[in-house]
Amino acid sequence: MNTNIEEGVALAKALVSGMKPTDAIVILGAPFVSLQAVGQVISGAKNIHLAAQNCHQKASGAYTGEISVAMLKSVDCEYVILGHSERREYFNESDELIKSKTEWVLENGLNPIFCCGENLTVREAGEQEKVVGSQIKNALFEMTAEQMEKIIIAYEPIWAIGTGVTASPEQAQEMHAFIRSLIKTQFGEAIADGTSILYGGSVKPANATELFSKADVDGGLVGGAALKADSFLGIIEAI
Ligand code: PGA
Repeated sequence: MNTNIEEGVALAKALVSGMKPTDAIVILGAPFVSLQAVGQVISGAKNIHLAAQNCHQKASGAYTGEISVAMLKSVDCEYVILGHSERREYFNESDELIKSKTEWVLENGLNPIFCCGENLTVREAGEQEKVVGSQIKNALFEMTAEQMEKIIIAYEPIWAIGTGVTASPEQAQEMHAFIRSLIKTQFGEAIADGTSILYGGSVKPANATELFSKADVDGGLVGGAALKADSFLGIIEAI
């Protein structure tokens, strides 16, 4: 819940003009009210796409205040972040709900960015694989191979989001390798190898290169550092 339309447009313009040619895929997760305006700024820009930060799991109807996938498609949004830890924590989003949102988004031709991650208590108890494993099994294991191919996974340890504390590259790699092994067990090696697994939690230019150098870290889901064009551009250069 950051930036109004004017600020979002200014940020998107700075990114478009400051980005060096890259093969990296950059996805801007703008707030709903800014999607259309940000979409206009990036239209035609190579490798920059638009994401929403949430959506509803029904087509339309009496769900006052909610945003449908059809509405997102009407502003050319291609990706949707689902199951962010803040959605899980403050809006009681369950694995089951996130699963139905993921299925609905896929059915409508958009690409889900599925978030998972453990809190500090779980990490201190050494139970992170159990918790993240069950988030993934509950929400993703009943997908078809065709659906799974379109899902991006973001691992975000909650203790590292917005705190300035980053998981060490080794901690990130360990969890990403675990997630990939789960996907491999359920969907096979080709799909596991093709799945993008992003790391989120205090990614910044100073730590991005090291995080992204790990074998199973395919990119980042960036919050605070994406709110300033300079640091966002620094992270894009790191990938
Ligand atoms: P952060 O946020 O980069 O500010 O830690 C990550 C996120 O919002 O998922």
